Amino acid sequence: MVVLFILGFSAALGLALLYGTAAALGPRAPRLRRALLVLALLPVALRLVAGTVLVSVDRLLAADFVPLALPPLVAAVCLAPPRGRPAVWRVRGAAFAAIEHLLVTFSPPAPPYLVPAMAVPALLLGFALAARRWEAVMAGGRLAPRWKALVASGAALAVVAAGGWSAAASRLPDRMSMASHGSHDMGHGHGAHGIDISTLTGPRDREPDRRFTLTARRTPATLASGQRIEAWTFNGRLPGPELRVRQGELVEVTLVNRDVTAGVTVHWHGVDVPNAEDGVAGMTQDAVPPGGRHVYRFVADRAGSFWYHSHQQSAEQVERGLFGALIVDPARSSPREEDLAVVSHRWTSPDGNVTALSLAGGTPSGSVSHRAVRPGGQVRLRLINADSHLRAFALSGVPFAVAAIDGTDLGGPTPLRNERISVPGGGRYDLTFTMPDRPVQLRLVRGDAGVLLSPTGRGDLAPATPGPDFDPASYGRAAPTPFDKARFDRHYTVVLGQSFGFYDGRFALRWTIDGKTFPNVPTLMVRTGDLVRTTFVNRSFADHPMHLHGHRMLVLSRNGHAVSGSPWWSDTLNVAPGERYEVAFRADNPGLWMDHCHNLAHAGAGMTMHLAYEGYESPYEIGRATANQPE
Ligand code: C2O
Ligand code: CU
Repeated sequence: MVVLFILGFSAALGLALLYGTAAALGPRAPRLRRALLVLALLPVALRLVAGTVLVSVDRLLAADFVPLALPPLVAAVCLAPPRGRPAVWRVRGAAFAAIEHLLVTFSPPAPPYLVPAMAVPALLLGFALAARRWEAVMAGGRLAPRWKALVASGAALAVVAAGGWSAAASRLPDRMSMASHGSHDMGHGHGAHGIDISTLTGPRDREPDRRFTLTARRTPATLASGQRIEAWTFNGRLPGPELRVRQGELVEVTLVNRDVTAGVTVHWHGVDVPNAEDGVAGMTQDAVPPGGRHVYRFVADRAGSFWYHSHQQSAEQVERGLFGALIVDPARSSPREEDLAVVSHRWTSPDGNVTALSLAGGTPSGSVSHRAVRPGGQVRLRLINADSHLRAFALSGVPFAVAAIDGTDLGGPTPLRNERISVPGGGRYDLTFTMPDRPVQLRLVRGDAGVLLSPTGRGDLAPATPGPDFDPASYGRAAPTPFDKARFDRHYTVVLGQSFGFYDGRFALRWTIDGKTFPNVPTLMVRTGDLVRTTFVNRSFADHPMHLHGHRMLVLSRNGHAVSGSPWWSDTLNVAPGERYEVAFRADNPGLWMDHCHNLAHAGAGMTMHLAYEGYESPYEIGRATANQPE
């Protein structure tokens, strides 16, 4: 699927370059021209085949092909033979076909396609006619040079003005309520009588079982491998302290912001806390300013691997270090000998960027971290990817199992050897094994960082030799799920895409949902108790780890094939280019929730939407005029 996808794109480029060149040569060099034409038609034919196959395999992924990409291809083919038509028209035909094709390929509009299907060719035809008229006037020689200059500068001015207007129009509002933007109301809820989500707190009337304080501050730091970081930390540590609690405990965390100017929040990634504890600036609270504090309370009701991070200007704040591991140990657990969180993160350093691993709360290292482990002991490695990109790991020296994904145990995990484990940005995978009497190493497939477990606690890393990709969709024992015979109350389709355009006043590659960017992406509306099915389709060039706050999603199928192994629950699901996933969740945690790409730069460039329960409203606002910028 991905191959077909890429084929289509390269064919589009081939079309533009080769066909354009061939046509431009005109009647000169007929041999060369014919050869170039044939060369040009090859990628066009490839594109035709690839497009047709894609449409038949996945309509959602390629629905724009028929109305938008097919016509220019056909037109290009029809105009190709040099007989009859003046060369200038072939050049234009090719150029216009290529332009439309590139527009459609790199900035695909969202469905419905009727408007772009008519508007783009109409626009191009308009330009062609204008150009012809212009040539006629030129040929007549009736236009004085200063008129020519005037027309040219007028046209330039119009282009600049149009650009300025769309830049201004793309500015995010100075102030906006997260409960009432965009197109989502569907006629109910959000009246004056909505329930205020700031009342949806964790238990406030009893003593917490565990208390933590996280103090955010600017802290120059040095990685174990020597690189200096202008870090922002919790409690002066990189990453923030590892919080370990027991399932069922009431946890209280006091966030103190010492000097992070833009303000800070803490989001409990993967923990389905009550809405008011979710830590999203401008949605569930105001960002905590320097000198301020905020108290979170929630019951850690599921055991598993989670993490926490600031959700104010999250792309920058997480990148600089405002995050840490959050581990919920099972209520009753046999004491495991080694239970180690391994947090991966890419650090920006004046000494060069480095992807580092932090072992068991230790200082991150871009090279090897050691740990002595007694042979025969049980080991659990909790891989936590605190990064925006998919991170591949290779564990070698021992057969191992994938025991859990995103904090949910898998049923009947079978032994693996050398499988490459890819953890999405924001995702968590737990690996378990019995320590042998030889060293075991965990390595990044790309980068120099690794963890060496050995009886002596010494040794060197060997090169990573990852085997085939681990596939969660067919791993472990199948088991009934709560949604097997369910009738879904809502079905949403979420098309992840990209387009060039203005976002918040700047020209950028925007990451889109259904062709739109935040705050214009429609909100997913639910009622408490609804069973919701969501289809994610990625028709862009990049991975999108989709993260839903406050809920776990059960993965039903990938690319049309049902999940055949253990039930696979995820809160951060990587949707690769060309992939389609169907997931389901129960709307059982009322409030207003983020649902966004956890490539935080993508989230900050528009790939953010909300899940909203009817009848709830937020007293908080985001925007320049407020202190809140969640992404
Ligand atoms: Cu881990 Cu909305 O984020
Ligand atoms: Cu993304």
